[in-house]
Amino acid sequence: MTRTDGYLLDNRQSEAAERFDAFATLFDPTTFRHLEALGIGSGWRCWEVGAGGTSVVSWLAKKVGPTGRVVATDIETSRLAAAARPPVEVRVHDVGAQEPPGEGFDLVHARLVLVHVPDRERALRSMVKALRSGGRILVEDADPALQPLLCLDEQGPEQQLANRLRQGFRQLLADRGADLAYGRRLPRLLRDAGLRRVEADAYFPVTSPACAALESATIRQIRDQLVAADIATDQDIDRHLTNVASGSMDLATAPMISAWGRKA
Ligand SMILES: C[S@@+](CC[C@H](N)C(=O)[O-])C[C@H]1O[C@@H](n2cnc3c(N)ncnc32)[C@H](O)[C@@H]1O
Repeated sequence: MTRTDGYLLDNRQSEAAERFDAFATLFDPTTFRHLEALGIGSGWRCWEVGAGGTSVVSWLAKKVGPTGRVVATDIETSRLAAAARPPVEVRVHDVGAQEPPGEGFDLVHARLVLVHVPDRERALRSMVKALRSGGRILVEDADPALQPLLCLDEQGPEQQLANRLRQGFRQLLADRGADLAYGRRLPRLLRDAGLRRVEADAYFPVTSPACAALESATIRQIRDQLVAADIATDQDIDRHLTNVASGSMDLATAPMISAWGRKA
């Protein structure tokens, strides 16, 4: 297997904004429910890891208010510019390779990030280290191996093509060091890191227009890599994008597992 370290889906590409909008529609309600349950409130100091777009960061900023702090980090921060004003501080930062951007955080959160980080063990250690005693961590990550299909109801050639391309996308991710069964490991990893009161749950949409928007943006973004790896032809990809746009298929996502706990 060829292993090419590096994130497959560069935030500078125009499709990244479409993907972040889709993540917000699909997953923000789940994320916000968990953050509320963890007690997020005025004055909290938060680290949003691999923030991507602005939806979670802006929500956190509203919750913590002017006396709080939200450090939003990513290896590529161009999509965060609109949120970069107090209490939000945006920093370029590689969570798998650098020291944390501060300490004593009340909350550290990462969504759909660690699965992509080759040194995710170091990343998680760094996130836990950055918490104050009693601070909360929420790690949310996909587990594509738990539910690998784009079309759960594989009825005909359109769905077969969709699932074949999904399999190819997963292959490209794995070639770059992604752990496609990472989500399910989170509770154990949090406990092993010394966190207390660890719990987890999972959520995944089975069909939604936002799944179609996410699929279209993702496939357009990785089109060249799919063709270069002989996973699909340009004709396959055009046909699939037309099928997705027609709205005739039920498209799902990989389950997102949310795991949380607090530092002793
Ligand atoms: C799938 S997106 C998720 C974005 C956002 N957390 C969300 O849920 O909408 C993954 C994000 O992780 C960032 N990322 C990838 N590798 C990273 C690393 N080593 N350190 C920090 N961020 C990273 C990417 O640039 C991208 O913004």
